[in-house]
Amino acid sequence: MSAQDASPVRLGLAGFGTVGQGLVSILTESSDWIERRLGRPVRVAAAAVRDPGKPRPVALPEGTRITANPLELAAAEDVDIVVELMGGLTSAYDLIRLALTSGKHVVTANKHLLAERGEELFALAAAKGVGLYYEASVCGGIPIVQTLKESLAGNHILAVTGILNGTSNFILSRMTKKGLSYAEALKKAQKKGYAEADPTLDVEGLDAAHKLIVLIRLAYGRDYPLAALPVTGVTAITPLDIAYAREFGCEVKLIGQAKMADGKIMAGVHPMLLSKSYLLAQVSGAFNAVRVVGDAVGAVMLYGQGAGGRPTGSAVLADIMALARDGAAPNNTGFPEKTLPSAELLPHEEETSRRYFRFTVEDKPGVLAALAKALGDVGISIYQAVQKVDPDTADESIVPIVFMTHQARQRDVDAALEKIRAFPFVKAEPMHLRVL
Ligand code: NAP
Ligand code: HSE
Repeated sequence: MSAQDASPVRLGLAGFGTVGQGLVSILTESSDWIERRLGRPVRVAAAAVRDPGKPRPVALPEGTRITANPLELAAAEDVDIVVELMGGLTSAYDLIRLALTSGKHVVTANKHLLAERGEELFALAAAKGVGLYYEASVCGGIPIVQTLKESLAGNHILAVTGILNGTSNFILSRMTKKGLSYAEALKKAQKKGYAEADPTLDVEGLDAAHKLIVLIRLAYGRDYPLAALPVTGVTAITPLDIAYAREFGCEVKLIGQAKMADGKIMAGVHPMLLSKSYLLAQVSGAFNAVRVVGDAVGAVMLYGQGAGGRPTGSAVLADIMALARDGAAPNNTGFPEKTLPSAELLPHEEETSRRYFRFTVEDKPGVLAALAKALGDVGISIYQAVQKVDPDTADESIVPIVFMTHQARQRDVDAALEKIRAFPFVKAEPMHLRVL
């Protein structure tokens, strides 16, 4: 493909589910506008699905060749760009590998694959001189990939912080606003179609972790091994914690964050308390947002729909159009190296943040003092404390005691928790959250 070329950009579309259909609906409705902007039309030459006979709300354009074998797209002579929208790790990997090896550009929304095998796939794309673009893989329709790769390229990125998973955010918002339990809120999220095929990826923080690995690569030009990323999901959050957070003027959100400190990357995905005054705390429902702090630009925040056929299709289409323009010199990672260096990681036990603790304890003399001493002994200083009877409790002799602390190091938190768990008056596993 060359920039002057007016011939159609021909797509091999692997997957015609939520995102594939969103993409095709935009291609169909906005074909004139796309041609006007690109100087060339975009056409679907062929599509691969598992079940070609399945009825679908959006039709493939007339004349599209349909196959059940996605690998055919990688070899097809009438395909310029392979668009991988199947998801999963196996068929998607085989397809992308074969397409890149065959010298075809690839657009994908598959954050899971890029987090697990991105290093290898980006190296292959670089060796072949082809594009591997992935705007839709992080936060659906929000243009965060392009923002980090191009718009903020001159900045040292000091921090990237985001609400990267719409399902978890929807669940926490419903628990906060409607007083639903975790299980009730999850059911609603599934009914609305926000969750991944396997919702464990959403609620255990793994989907957000996949996206954070992609963001770290873009922000720092480093490969961060997914297995080394500390990840906590939202499954243990209770309405009680949400109520206490609100007493402290905070919301509870699942946050993915990466920061650079002294050349080392501190990163993780955890439910956190955020002051209600932060813009991120006001992102509710299935929406996503990412806040980037650059040394020159300061803070920049992007907000929008992180899922759904048309928002995600919009991001896929942007990549297709970008590749049609700059396919001769694709910019895949935003860095010139064929293989990015590995990230130097801040050891997990050195991580510091303010903390929220909720201890379930017997209500008797000396308990509060013993808890405070266990924290104080390892240098953790208490900022605020609350003890109230849980209104839903059947036994008023067992109470929650909640502390907000000043900055605490993970190593000290672990040591204090080990001691506190062993106290005979502690009646349940302590709850422990970070404060942003
Ligand atoms: P989906 O609705 O489940 O659609 C998957 C499509 O791929 C279906 O058309 C399916 O065929 C086809 N497919 C799957 N395995 C195949 C195989 N081995 N051979 C041929 N066709 C195969 O998935 P989706 O929600 O569109 O998600 C696609 C990708 O986008 C995933 O990587 C996901 O993480 C990512 N993503 C999704 C969203 C979102 O809002 N949904 C947002 C951002 C990123 P059949 O229809 O015949 O079953
Ligand atoms: N399941 C994802 C979410 C959508 O809930 O954010 C696609 O990334």
